[in-house]
Formats: sequence, C-alpha cells, structure tokens
Amino acid sequence: MNPGRLLEIAVAAARASGDHALMHQSRRRETLSRSPRDIKLVLDRECQTVAESVICEAIPDACILGEEGNRGAKQDTEWIVDPIDGTANFFRHLPWWCSSVAVRSGDTMVAGAVYAPEFGRLYAASVDGPATLNGQPIQVSPVTSMAETFITTGISKTSVDASRSMAVTLQLQPEVMKLRIMGAAALDLCMVAEGVVDGFYETGIYIWDVAAACLIVERAGGRTITQNHQPDGRLTCIAGTGLTFPRLRELASQTH
Ligand code: IPD
Repeated sequence: MNPGRLLEIAVAAARASGDHALMHQSRRRETLSRSPRDIKLVLDRECQTVAESVICEAIPDACILGEEGNRGAKQDTEWIVDPIDGTANFFRHLPWWCSSVAVRSGDTMVAGAVYAPEFGRLYAASVDGPATLNGQPIQVSPVTSMAETFITTGISKTSVDASRSMAVTLQLQPEVMKLRIMGAAALDLCMVAEGVVDGFYETGIYIWDVAAACLIVERAGGRTITQNHQPDGRLTCIAGTGLTFPRLRELASQTH
C-alpha cells in the first residue's frame, strides 16, 4: 500500500478516535484505574477500539501497537496508536488533547495523523508529501535568534524523567523568550511543525505519544530524534528547527 493510502487510513482512524472522545466527553471522568500520577479512562480504551476498527476495516490483519494494548501478529508494517494523548487534560476538561495514529514500515515512519477535536485541527504527513494542517501546508518557524524562541517540554509520570526534562529545559530559560508545558506531547510537537513554538524536549515518553507528530515535524522542515530507549519503552524525544534542535541536543547530551 502506498504512503498516501496509508495516510488516508491513519487520518480516518485519528478522526474517529478523537470524535468518539468528543462525542462522549460527558463521560470523561469514568476511570478504569488510577495511580498517583496517572489515570486510565474508559474512553481511552473505547477510543483505541474505535481507531482499531477503522484500521482493520481497511487492513484486517493489521499489526497495532497502542497505548491501550497491542493487536495482531508482528509484521514489517505497524500501526502506532495513542487514542487520547493528554489524557489528564481531557479528564479535567482542559481542551489540549488529541488522537494520534502513525504507520511505521521497518524503521521508517511513513504516515502520521494528529487530530485535536476541540480545536478542529487535523495535522497530517506522509513520508513523500508535505506536512499539512487541515489540508494546508505548514512549516516550522524561520526564527533566527534563540532569544525569540518558545520551547515546550512535558512532565512524565516518573519523577526521575520529569526532573530531567525540567533540568534540560530550565537551562534554556536565560536564552529563550518562553518555556511552556502544555500536557499533550503529540499536539505540542504539531505546534513545532506549525511554527507556533520552536522546540520540544521530553524524556520518559512513549513511541505512541510522538510517532505521528515527529514525522509531521520533519515533513514541515524540522528535525527530530528519539533516543535512550528503555526496556519498558520510555524514550527521549527532541524536536526543533535548524536553530533550536542542535541546542536542545547539545544540552540533552551535557545534562546527567
Ligand atoms: C502524556 C502526554 C504528556 C506527556 C506524558 C505523556 P498520555 O501522554 O503526552 O504531555 O508529558 O509524558 O505520557 O498519557 O496523556 O497519552
């Protein structure tokens, strides 16, 4: 299947998942489990089932890696789904949340869609096309001075990872205009792709949080890397422009 067709399916799955969450938002506090810094919602599960049914309607034996569980036998092409990224925001009715669906073939991300239903924003990219927002091409910011930049980070569930994300980004505080923490990594990364913010750093994050959005950043002219993969799947994600990416990477490598 070509990347364009895979992207159509990813877009349909992300839209279906996000629209299901939005339509049932009165049930946002229905909880499956809770731990001190984490929450699992009934709608997380339901939305992943909705996304999976869209994917499997097109590809019945699809291999799916999702925040809410895996499905299908391992194969070269894999679907990576985060049904609600920014779960805690959704739970508290903070509208900064989204659904994310990516397709990976071997080591290459070939298509990705991120849908933020409360804002009516659909970000998409395939490996052979431009990054788009609601069908219009987008580009990372052309900013040329660190003093003009906005940098975002995220606070992972584990204290060690949260401290590291803060340590890396706080070192930038004297040289940038603003630091921001918004709470949905996929959408934060789409802000980099759109040129609304200029960089993103988080450690302790998972592939489903960043897979689609990293491709969108790259196809918008930005740079991304995921590294330091841990056995439990946690990883570090850095994204930015030609200006911010090297600086974030340098700080990440110097911070222990
Ligand atoms: C979380 C969000 C948040 C990030 C956390 C993620 P979830 O994803 O992306 O911004 O800081 O590390 O776990 O759990 O809401 O899908």
